[in-house]
Amino acid sequence: ASNEMWGGRFASGPAAIMEAINASIGFDKKLYAQDIAGSLAHSEMLAEQGIIAKADQEKIAHGLNTILSEIEAGTFVFSTKLEDIHMNVESRLAELIGPAAGRLHTARSRNDQVAVDFRLWTKNELTRTAEALKGLIAAFLDKAEAHAATVMPGFTHLQTAQPVTFGHHCMAYVEMFGRDLSRVRDAIERLDESPLGAAALAGTGFPIDRHRTASALGFREPTRNSIDSVSDRDYALEFLSVAAICATHLSRLAEEIVIWSTPQFAFVRLSDQFSTGSSIMPQKKNPDAAELVRAKTGRINGHLVGLLTVMKGLPLAYSKDMQEDKEAVFDAAETLDLMIAAMTGMVGDMTINTDAMKRAAGSGFSTATDLADWLVREAGLPFREAHHVTGRAVAMAEAQKKGLEKLSIEDLRSLNPAITEDVYSVLSVNNSVKSRKSFGGTAPAEVKRQIRYWRKRLAKA
Ligand code: ARG
Repeated sequence: ASNEMWGGRFASGPAAIMEAINASIGFDKKLYAQDIAGSLAHSEMLAEQGIIAKADQEKIAHGLNTILSEIEAGTFVFSTKLEDIHMNVESRLAELIGPAAGRLHTARSRNDQVAVDFRLWTKNELTRTAEALKGLIAAFLDKAEAHAATVMPGFTHLQTAQPVTFGHHCMAYVEMFGRDLSRVRDAIERLDESPLGAAALAGTGFPIDRHRTASALGFREPTRNSIDSVSDRDYALEFLSVAAICATHLSRLAEEIVIWSTPQFAFVRLSDQFSTGSSIMPQKKNPDAAELVRAKTGRINGHLVGLLTVMKGLPLAYSKDMQEDKEAVFDAAETLDLMIAAMTGMVGDMTINTDAMKRAAGSGFSTATDLADWLVREAGLPFREAHHVTGRAVAMAEAQKKGLEKLSIEDLRSLNPAITEDVYSVLSVNNSVKSRKSFGGTAPAEVKRQIRYWRKRLAKA
């Protein structure tokens, strides 16, 4: 039998394999609530504009609400023959209310219908992501506050560079996730237009009110170009871009947690709740959650590249290719939710080994730059020369197998006679971090100022 929605010009129905490749109901059923909300808003507008009768609209609204409860109760029977969520809902509506159901699709196409459903879904998901990010940022702010003065080595090339504070390192992540949060808000801002009423691509001859449906659905305004309305998937691409950047941040953090939790570093200890054991090696405590956060980033990045590739060759306006947008976004959303939640838990729960951090902070000649800076400041050397003198001090300390602060004053003076006992004050890691008071620097007082700034900003974000 031919399709009941568009079978007029068809003599036979689709091949089984056609049905299999065409159907999206397996995944787009997730859009049921948005689909029903869109239909309710559309039908109310149609009645108000005198395009359909008020009595029909009431039947439609009643039927749609029944369908919503059926789906939520799990009693709704989804059919692959009916392709997608739109036709599944409409077909059930016809069963429930009869011929009035056929009036719902006046001045509408599945092309604008799917666009409005998916925008609503994505907007909701972005809003949830914003809340999740705020929770993660808050967890970092608490850690930063507790460890504003905890010294650790800062790294470049994963080689000890200069002492920093753990609080400062935490605040670096606050900046990263703060930018993610602002990208989420930007994405919502651009997405916030309703495509409903664009119809197939050209608009409609019926006297619809697109401003009315836009505001009924909580959009700022209707989209301005009907062709673009049904061919645009930027909101999905932006969701995936935002998700991929955020996932990349989470993955870098995950990598640091993996490194920090090794017995060799031992900077942090993960709680039992966020680690696993080994079935053969009794001593093991593995950072599986962090590893999986790192790994799942690959999926999200893959979804972004996947959808960009789907879209890149499509002529305007709608093509069925665009049906491939949903699984990418659904999976990325679910994955990102999980990653942020796991990270928030891990960060909140982990124990910081301040002794190990402090020990490591002092190793690797981490205060060499402080020595060079002292020579510039106190002995008037040009920085390049101070750099050279300090390099010789490091070589000397290395040869004597000790830290810079353990070199004798005679040894130091042999490198440059202007050096005095005062130099030892900058060779300690605590003094090193305290001295770095420049805006955005690692000094505990500056870190505390950064924390205060973010607490205020987060309250408004
Ligand atoms: N299931 C389709 C999608 O996800 C709905 C739109 C179908 N439109 C069409 N002209 N076939 O894109």
